[in-house]
Amino acid sequence: MSTEQVIKRVTTKTLALLKRKGIKISVLTAYDFITAKLFDEAGIDVILVGDSLSNVFQGNETTLPVTMDEMIYHTRAVSKGINRAMLVVDMPFMSYQLSIDEGFRNAGRIMKETSAGAVKLEGGLRVAETIKKITDAGIPVMGHIGLTPQSIYQFGSYRERGKDENEAEEILQDAKAVEEAGAYAIVLEKIPAVLAKKITEHLKIPTIGIGAGVHCDGQVLVSPDMLGLNMDFHPRFVRRYANMAEIITNAVKKYTEDVKSSNFPSEEESY
Ligand code: KIV
Repeated sequence: MSTEQVIKRVTTKTLALLKRKGIKISVLTAYDFITAKLFDEAGIDVILVGDSLSNVFQGNETTLPVTMDEMIYHTRAVSKGINRAMLVVDMPFMSYQLSIDEGFRNAGRIMKETSAGAVKLEGGLRVAETIKKITDAGIPVMGHIGLTPQSIYQFGSYRERGKDENEAEEILQDAKAVEEAGAYAIVLEKIPAVLAKKITEHLKIPTIGIGAGVHCDGQVLVSPDMLGLNMDFHPRFVRRYANMAEIITNAVKKYTEDVKSSNFPSEEESY
């Protein structure tokens, strides 16, 4: 029996159970109602309204410009398409970096103004206090360490993190700090598979990998990348499950041809 047949609504408890049972967790990003509905009906475990919204929806180069209001707007739309999956929302850049209280207030705002089940924020030790404050108030937090795109200007590139021993140790300590602060799950982005395996074995909470190898408890991808909508971006960790760019381009070409040749609409399509 597959997990989608057994589980009515995915919660933090479900994800903990899946880890204990060794059942992998599937996560995808979504930014609108129709896509979220399709993903939910297809049996995805977690839908993330990622701040990748800034790149793939708004066309920005980084995740930095997207705002709280925009994240909330998209989350409300996505939530209407979901019956089963757990809905997680990224806290955008500068919504939790200013102070612990500011992060706490913004996490609360997301929970009050959307139907999200959790928030996600980037960072390890340096945001541990913020995670603790938010989780102490009953708001589930998903952590995110390794390559954290909101710090891209500090890193200087999107290269893999944790390749040398010192950086790998820092990332392991970050993972432990996030767990100790009360997070219920953690994203490991673009780190060596052996490091992700070590973290996954060390932590009780599920690890969700993106470019972090097969040993994580689950995997997440940015949906326009895995659907083949975003043809300009092909890092090695993205597997393309469809070529939506080609399907959409062909459909639009055919529609344009049909309109121009008066082949659309037909008599049956008219009143
Ligand atoms: O914003 C996002 O889409 C993310 C995923 C890459 C995990 O944080």
